[in-house]
Amino acid sequence: MMCFLNINEIRKDFPILERKIRGKSLVYLDSAASSLKPIQVVEAIREFYLIEYSNIHRGVHYLSQSATSRYEESREKIAKFINAHSSEEIIFTYGTTDSLNMLAYGYGLRVLKPGDKILLTIMEHHSNILPWMYISTLTGAKIDYIDITDEGEIDYDELDEKINEKTKIVSITHMSNVLGTIIDVKKIAKKIHEVGGVIIVDGAQSVPHMPINVRELEIDFLAFSGHKMLGPTGIGVLWIKRDLLDDMHPPRLGGGSIRDVTLDDFTFLDPPHRFEAGTPNIAGVIGLARAVEYLEKIGMNNVRRHEEELTSYALKELDRFKGQIDVYGPSSVSIRGGIIAFNVKGLDPNMVGGLLDSFGIAVRTGKHCAHPLHQRLSIDGSVRASIYIYNTKEEIALLTSALEEITNATIR
Ligand SMILES: Cc1ncc(COP(=O)(O)O)c(C=O)c1O
Repeated sequence: MMCFLNINEIRKDFPILERKIRGKSLVYLDSAASSLKPIQVVEAIREFYLIEYSNIHRGVHYLSQSATSRYEESREKIAKFINAHSSEEIIFTYGTTDSLNMLAYGYGLRVLKPGDKILLTIMEHHSNILPWMYISTLTGAKIDYIDITDEGEIDYDELDEKINEKTKIVSITHMSNVLGTIIDVKKIAKKIHEVGGVIIVDGAQSVPHMPINVRELEIDFLAFSGHKMLGPTGIGVLWIKRDLLDDMHPPRLGGGSIRDVTLDDFTFLDPPHRFEAGTPNIAGVIGLARAVEYLEKIGMNNVRRHEEELTSYALKELDRFKGQIDVYGPSSVSIRGGIIAFNVKGLDPNMVGGLLDSFGIAVRTGKHCAHPLHQRLSIDGSVRASIYIYNTKEEIALLTSALEEITNATIR
């Protein structure tokens, strides 16, 4: 197996990996829920609070100005990370859920009319379904869903048929948080642009794991979360293509977002500030920028290649359990990320998760905020192992040997 990352060095940055859980070395396979944090990110936040702290954008004093510079430099770093045109396109939010809600309220509510269509897929996370459901009740727009194929891909033929001039918004995950499927968002972007609509991409699972170039993808909006990419919780990003910045109305209004206010009117600041009313998560932004720096040093291509290697190894190993374990999602790693959902036949996924925990292995169980997808797969839940930069082949082997013990015990 080729090694694209210096895993031993990387692991030293994550002290939590030295912990023993239930007497066993921790095997953390739950990064799709939230990634671990390297020392560098925690230190950046600690330092900011201890010796650099001040509110931003509203002080003439030294600390406020230097905190403002750090905050705005972080915005630039994140803009470069996804190849945005400029930092004005980067809006800091609380996470993917918040970014998608902002889009639903700030963009959807503004552009959607009765009879318009919002196109989603049945593999969306609830955060990319519920805001649209509510906005559809407010606007009279209708939601339609694209189905998946037996391989766990979206049905691109159905998508072709369903996109028409009524389709104003396609809002779609870039990588399924259950199947791991990577969606060809560029293909969809071309199609929706032909009919004058826009594409919103939920990048919660893709941005942490592969190079993302928003211009190359030709998408219009991108939402992602800091905590899934080595950053802190409570910070996320909404990227809006610059031509669309004026089509969005800030869904949150208040201090820090306006140029002037009279008793009966106000004028907004330019983007991105008009979208960031209130005191933002300054330390979160600084932590996220440090996380981005950490990932850039490794190289996002290397992150992706490492995960491809581990995922194909895991899929091959799980293949040995044919008849005993059902694995969901595409079999080719060229169209899937390091997320592997499965079920041990005859066992409740929560029970399997509990048993794996007794081996020190952290996985997620349940419906992973994707109830419609689980309904489509006719399953009540699944076990999800998810991979990141600090995981090793040995850890995947520990997972499969634990599964071997579990399946053997079940047969007996
Ligand atoms: C595909 C996808 N979308 C959205 C979300 C929501 O992200 P957050 O909880 O950070 O807002 C998640 C989180 O698991 C996700 O996997």
